[in-house]
Amino acid sequence: MQRNNAVDEIKSRCNIVDVIGRVVPLKKAGSNYKGICPFHNEKTSSFIVSEQKQIFTCFGCGATGDVIAFVQRYYNVDFPEAIERLAGEYGITIDKGFFKKNEKNDKLYEINRDAANFFYSAFTKTANAGYAYMQNRGIEPATLKKFGIGYADEKWDSLYTYLKSRGYDYNTLLELGLISYSKGKYYDKFRNRVMFPIINTRGKVIGFGGRIIGDGEPKYLNSQESPIFLKKNNLYGLNLTKQDIGKENCAILVEGYMDVISLYQSGVRNVSASLGTALTDNQAALLKRYTDKVVLSYDADDAGRKAALRGLDILYGAGMNVKVLHVTDGKDPDEFVKKKGKEAFIELTKEALPYADYKIEHIKREVDVSVTEGRVEFLKRAIAVLKTLSPAEADIYIKKIANDMKISEGAIRMELYGGDAGFGTGTRMENSDKVRRMPENVQRDKDAALRSMSDEDTAGDGMRDAEHISATEKHLIKIVLTDSSYYHKVAAYSYIFTNTKILAIWAAIKSVYRDGEEINPQAVREMLEIEEQDVFDDIMKNTLVAGYEEQIYIDSVKKIEIHEMKKRESEIKVMLSLADEDENGENIKELTEELMEIQKWINAQGGLQ
Ligand code: CTP
Ligand code: MN
Repeated sequence: MQRNNAVDEIKSRCNIVDVIGRVVPLKKAGSNYKGICPFHNEKTSSFIVSEQKQIFTCFGCGATGDVIAFVQRYYNVDFPEAIERLAGEYGITIDKGFFKKNEKNDKLYEINRDAANFFYSAFTKTANAGYAYMQNRGIEPATLKKFGIGYADEKWDSLYTYLKSRGYDYNTLLELGLISYSKGKYYDKFRNRVMFPIINTRGKVIGFGGRIIGDGEPKYLNSQESPIFLKKNNLYGLNLTKQDIGKENCAILVEGYMDVISLYQSGVRNVSASLGTALTDNQAALLKRYTDKVVLSYDADDAGRKAALRGLDILYGAGMNVKVLHVTDGKDPDEFVKKKGKEAFIELTKEALPYADYKIEHIKREVDVSVTEGRVEFLKRAIAVLKTLSPAEADIYIKKIANDMKISEGAIRMELYGGDAGFGTGTRMENSDKVRRMPENVQRDKDAALRSMSDEDTAGDGMRDAEHISATEKHLIKIVLTDSSYYHKVAAYSYIFTNTKILAIWAAIKSVYRDGEEINPQAVREMLEIEEQDVFDDIMKNTLVAGYEEQIYIDSVKKIEIHEMKKRESEIKVMLSLADEDENGENIKELTEELMEIQKWINAQGGLQ
């Protein structure tokens, strides 16, 4: 079955009331159904499912979409996975070519899973030093099982012997970093370690972290990077916690494996860890699929503070609402929660400092504001922070700083905006500021929303049509290939890539890209299949951007933003058509105001539509 037919077939065969009714108890209410919203915590039923329109809408949190969008969001899966799941449940056959599989990677995943099972058996079947160690650290059997914790014994070839008996190819084992080769011998990389399988959000084991039992170096040994393990693209624990993160609409980001496990065990489940490296843009984008609020909770030492400052910029730059928390007792969240418990930790999260406050506090710690030079230095650095804020946000902090430091607001404004203008342009684009003021769920839902309700062919809707590739998709791809300094900028909008061939090209670009290096188009091309190469060649030959990259990039972003706004506009219209005057009066008012603001914004965009 072709892609379009598959999507139509799914939508006509999978009744939304039936699909949602399996996981959310629904009651008939007039011509619609009502229930408790699964996407936010509520006591009354603001969640409406319309059988006639085949959509769901929540008046509490604003979530809305079709049956596919519901499955995507409820199970935290991407579009193809949602289709696969629904097709499986409803016995709809879909052409194999619909889901491109990479057989080489499948083999790598299989080996890692096998290794994880091997470590897990060693950990659970007989008494061993690894289990004793974790018990000693207060981790309970149920938690150990949940995280699939394992044990690598002290011998040199336990895993190797096992994997060899399974008939795997040596080179593949080397590639995964499970074994090493030296002086004519293969031997196990991980020995005398507690093993933490690193599992991606699709449930595949992509690598391992191994902690030495007792003292020794290195304390943690991680799998080397491989085609299925790119540290910069993954976060530890997210496979288990993504739903809690979505539900709480907040992620607590920590440094270590043990921080994740301890917090999880204590009942703080909306937690994840960067993989022992500085936080990356890709990790921020990954988190943003589930929430746009993050509390950074790194170690209480200098390294932790530095890492928090960098992480803060990355997350803020990704458009997230980010706060910083430092534990007050113990060196890290693991120690804190063991001593003080869940409630105390939650109290700390409530006191976490917002982005700008934290930056400003940090400057105060570094300079001596009791002397004039210090105050000048403080102001200079604080201005740099204010410049990253939207004008509305900056305004709040101007008042705070003025009050705090006994400097006049006018003087700060003068420094910030220069002599003449009262309001300069902040470095945050006005558009994104607009988008940021939309209800929180809108951004989180945009992938699903882009695909869900309208059929118009614009920037984000390649998904409706397997063959059609939008100009915006081609432009963004070509810009990156022409100038790789656009990589992160384009990555931020890569959610609009929906055409399968464009997705394959983007995946190839991602795996070829290295920070600070030009992308070799030939290397990208080599990773593609024949039909994808045809699209690639077409873009290389016919999509022209050279010399106009910045202008075309800005136009593309604008098109995407207009598209999103129009999408939201049509969502609101549908929601309003479902709203009940008596019950949703307040929502109707809010939605109408939002609608008017959106329409005003769209009109103000003028020519570009
Ligand atoms: N890390 C690493 N390699 C190291 C040390 C640390 O990859 N040699 C990563 C691991 O992901 C680790 C995280 O950085 O979980 C935090 O390091 P650290 O604070 O040293 O570890 P803890 O989590 O506090 O370890 P433990 O409680 O087991 O002592
Ligand atoms: Mn630590």
